[in-house]
Amino acid sequence: MSNHTLLVLYGSQTGTAQDTAERIGRQAQRRRMRFRVEALDTYNVANLISESLVVFICATTGQGDPPDNMKKFWRFLFRKSLPADSLCRLDCAVLGLGDSSYPKFNFVAKKLHKRLLQLGANMLQPVGLADDQHDLGPDGVIDPWLLSFWQKTLSVYPPPAGLAPIREEEKLPARYVFHFLDEVPDKQIEHLQTPDNKALPTSLQPFPARVVFNQRVTHPSHFQDVRHIEFDITGSNIQYNAGDVVMMRPCNASEDVEQFCQLLKLDPECYFTLTSTDSSTAVPARLPQPCSVRFLVEQFLDISAVPRRSFFEVLATFATNELECEKLVEFSSAQGQDSLHSYCNRPRRTALEVLTDFPHTTAELSIDYLLDLFPEIQPRSFSIASSLLQHPDRIQILLAVVKYKTLLLKPRKGLCSSWLASLEPSKGDVYVPLWVKKGSLRFPHDPDSPVIMVGPGTGVAPFRSAIQERAAHGKMANVLFFGCRSESKDFYCRSEWEEKVHAGHMILVTAFSRDQEDKIYVQHRVKEQSKLLWDLIAKKNAFFYIAGNAKQMPTSVCDALKEVFQKEGGISENQAHEMLDAMEKTGRFQSETWS
Ligand code: 2AM
Repeated sequence: MSNHTLLVLYGSQTGTAQDTAERIGRQAQRRRMRFRVEALDTYNVANLISESLVVFICATTGQGDPPDNMKKFWRFLFRKSLPADSLCRLDCAVLGLGDSSYPKFNFVAKKLHKRLLQLGANMLQPVGLADDQHDLGPDGVIDPWLLSFWQKTLSVYPPPAGLAPIREEEKLPARYVFHFLDEVPDKQIEHLQTPDNKALPTSLQPFPARVVFNQRVTHPSHFQDVRHIEFDITGSNIQYNAGDVVMMRPCNASEDVEQFCQLLKLDPECYFTLTSTDSSTAVPARLPQPCSVRFLVEQFLDISAVPRRSFFEVLATFATNELECEKLVEFSSAQGQDSLHSYCNRPRRTALEVLTDFPHTTAELSIDYLLDLFPEIQPRSFSIASSLLQHPDRIQILLAVVKYKTLLLKPRKGLCSSWLASLEPSKGDVYVPLWVKKGSLRFPHDPDSPVIMVGPGTGVAPFRSAIQERAAHGKMANVLFFGCRSESKDFYCRSEWEEKVHAGHMILVTAFSRDQEDKIYVQHRVKEQSKLLWDLIAKKNAFFYIAGNAKQMPTSVCDALKEVFQKEGGISENQAHEMLDAMEKTGRFQSETWS
């Protein structure tokens, strides 16, 4: 093994950057180089000055923002007090993951690259800008970039003499070893851990919140199941404001857990302890020691996600059956990404389904490799839809249950939404471990500032929280644009809005897209309300918000708003654009979108 250590730091939102980081780690291992893979926010940035070789893999999210797990790092790196030559001993490279259909393409990677240069770092090669829109997907850029990265890196940090690289088809050592226990331990520490009295719940110590109710709020004949769910957070110390988000980790469905254990001949009731095979790799903090197989499979391993390329890279090394081996090797290669896309991504095939498609290889799998194969289940965030001022000790969410058909026979289900929808508090106490994070939407403190909110569908969630909070503070200037398909089928929260309108707490404008022949959307209503909006924005300093998940909706609402500015303010298209830009810079225009 070489004495040099490659540090791979990633900022990942959907998991692609993490998967790429893990792949680079394995490539280092094959080249006999020590490596560490870490999320940017778990890494102590102050140590960066003493590193010699780092590769940064950073995604850019829709609005040009860094992913959640690198926000702390981002703030630190841009401190003005950092001396210009702080990183002059660092050799590094930056690989960005982005989507050129969004305006701020790979903004984070480009900005990071520039900042590292400013701080004196030595760039081994130009910044890589992977693009979801590339014909071969992001790997179309990543693979050639990595080839050149390794050429440069190995010329500066050559492998030890006499040690050949480990070939692609050879198995790398597992990162962990499982030690199964003969008996069930006396003290079972896993499952819901109650946080100590003063600490705020976190990802590692979530609060077990009781589910108070779980109601469907769309008509039974409506295509979409939307749930209104309430959690009891009494005793959690959680305080939140409008715009904040609640985080939780879903569990795999029990039938999937059973099937997985059968396939791998695992007894879910068995316990094990875990040790890592390399001193620089820690045992995941979220796994209790000892841990049951059920906990591992149900709450830790993401067996229901569509597997990524690195899954096939590891699986391929177990294949002894010729046909299976050929396919798995193809899926692990850059050239095979198109076929992998058709096999996995397009039909949304899950990792568990892949295992059943490759029975010979699955039978050969060693349990020690489970954590190399499957990523950890990632937490999901939901905009909080309630206010503590109206619902003390409670968090409510509005949840669209994800279910759709693909080429595959079995309908596809969203892991977290299906899991939450399946919880039945009427049949006994059910607890969901959760914690709360600051969201990106901020509402004005000034009681006189009017607030205009555009939230079709479940996009209305943060605005329900804001309206409840503002009304409780006597802030009555609230305008809500709500859009849904039909007045009779998915106009949820209707009675609450009607009450608040009646009490003078808000103005409500609705757009029912399918109650007439032509579609009516929130953006159409925005244009119709031009006088009201202009009065509030230009004369009363109103704040304007958009939230929701429809891809084109935010752009269309912005366009509608600019038309309002032009029409009512008598200004040009350019000036309208500048006006919206200025509002965004001062926080008077904010949006939160998700897919
Ligand atoms: P549709 O499904 O009838 O097209 C909540 O999902 C509401 O948002 C629905 O009425 C939906 O209409 C609407 N919606 C879909 N695409 C939209 C877009 N591009 N702009 C605005 N609203 C949209």
